[in-house]
Amino acid sequence: MSMKENSDWWHRSVVYQIYPRSFFDSNEDGIGDINGITMKLDYVKNLGADIIWISPIYDSPNYDAGYDIRDYYKISSEYGTMDDFDVMLKEMKQRQLKLVMDLAINHTSDEHPWFIESKKSKDNPYRHFYHWAPGNDGKAPNQWGACFGGSAWTYDIITGEYYLHTFTTKQPDLNWDNPMVRHEMYKVMRWWLEKGVDGFRLNTINFISKSPHYPEGKYNEKSQYTDGSSYYINGPRVHEYIHEIHQQVLQHYEVITFGECPGGDLHDAELFSAPERKELNMILTVEHLDLDGGKWTPKLLDLRCLKHHFTSWQKGLYDKGWNSLYWNNHDQPRIVSRWGNDTAPYRDLSAKMLATCLHFLCGTPFIYQGEEIGMTNVRFPSLADYRDIETTNFHSEASQTGLRLEEIMAAIYAKSRDNARTPMQWSGNLPHGGFSNGAVNVLPWINANSNYTDINVEQALNNPQSIFYYYQKLIQLRKTMPIITNGKYEILHDENTHIFMYKRCNDNEQEIIVACNFSQQPIIIDDIQLSEKIKNRKQILISNYEEHKRSDWLEFRPYEAWAIEI
Ligand code: GLC
Ligand code: CA
Repeated sequence: MSMKENSDWWHRSVVYQIYPRSFFDSNEDGIGDINGITMKLDYVKNLGADIIWISPIYDSPNYDAGYDIRDYYKISSEYGTMDDFDVMLKEMKQRQLKLVMDLAINHTSDEHPWFIESKKSKDNPYRHFYHWAPGNDGKAPNQWGACFGGSAWTYDIITGEYYLHTFTTKQPDLNWDNPMVRHEMYKVMRWWLEKGVDGFRLNTINFISKSPHYPEGKYNEKSQYTDGSSYYINGPRVHEYIHEIHQQVLQHYEVITFGECPGGDLHDAELFSAPERKELNMILTVEHLDLDGGKWTPKLLDLRCLKHHFTSWQKGLYDKGWNSLYWNNHDQPRIVSRWGNDTAPYRDLSAKMLATCLHFLCGTPFIYQGEEIGMTNVRFPSLADYRDIETTNFHSEASQTGLRLEEIMAAIYAKSRDNARTPMQWSGNLPHGGFSNGAVNVLPWINANSNYTDINVEQALNNPQSIFYYYQKLIQLRKTMPIITNGKYEILHDENTHIFMYKRCNDNEQEIIVACNFSQQPIIIDDIQLSEKIKNRKQILISNYEEHKRSDWLEFRPYEAWAIEI
């Protein structure tokens, strides 16, 4: 079936991700909340997004910012009540906004009643809800390292065995091989869908199947732990279970699903998202964001690698599966600081350039709160200002290995997840960017970025040339031009190290050229044929420099970007 015939509503949608803790604090306790989201729905609607994904708001001890769920049926009291949730959902529906819940079902909190039971004895009915294994000569069952540092196994004295946690010790992995676990999780999903939510972002969903007997991982000289990821990422039964989720739950509702798949490549994306396989609608890969070095060892991006990534995914999934498109989320540093340039005057230009590059691709674009006003990374003076467990764990492990404080802080400034988690900057005049409803004496749970005085929603809405309105226009173009959803992709000037240029075309000979200068340098592309075509163009769709100043469209100024229908 061709993609046109198969075009679903979510193919034409744009997702806005809200990180509730940092979005808007309505009751002035320093923590963003559900009523705060409700109060800002018109803002999201005005931007033009039509799906809102909210990071977890369930009851949680918050060791990993809510991705450690204690009760799947309860709203965290920090965020409000179930009544607040119902009001928010109703207000969303009134505005034709869809709600996607974030579900972490690979693991629970260690304070979840199932785990509390599971720990009690080897014959407890909940024992096999989790992965338990005896030690090996007084050591863990194997030497797998956990994703956020330390061993992936923790010893529990009550039964004298170890439990598996691919993330922190407070996030034991569920045992999906146990049909009771799957049954419970399908119940959770149905319960929220019956309430009227429109879908799920399934957290680390490609982690749910583990290789039996937990084989030893790959040795790495730099670490005392092994890399066991090939035994717990995309494990032997992952597609079987996801297909079962589809059969048991998803197919009975009109839903949208995106599966977060760290380590997921193009082949995995096709398996998860091909419609005939009846699994998920799309995956959120991290492949493109891994191109500038390891988590704490940043290096410069080679643009050709990024071009190569997008080209293979755009071509590889065309008419087969579906792409998600994103630069930012709550786990990633801010893109304008990362692959753009967050110093004036380039912040504005490069934020728009990055948006242009992404929003003309084939797939469903995601915008992370604050991206639409060009929010930047933060540089807190002291480690004590940081909240993220991955960041603080890194700091303590790196200090022990003898890394200097400056080096550690440089890595944190570049890559810490807290870069994305500072409070949304609503206003330039109110304390902390207006996060706590303007309250003067309330400290936010994490400090605001001090640049809120210049970068904030208020000024963005008052300036017709702002990044906000640029995003709004990109979304409108997607809504009015089906070629952006359905057109074929082709890379142009593939070899160029600074310019990312591609075209989209369809059967009616409609053609769009998109060009983005990822550098601060002026770059000239020598292409007489294209230059002619551009002169005879149908229309300029969008550009980040003022038009009247332009002589030749292939002479690029710093961070210049445009899209032209030829
Ligand atoms: C996902 C979430 C991340 C969380 C991790 C472990 O990657 O996006 O925020 O820390 O899962 O739960
Ligand atoms: Ca609050």
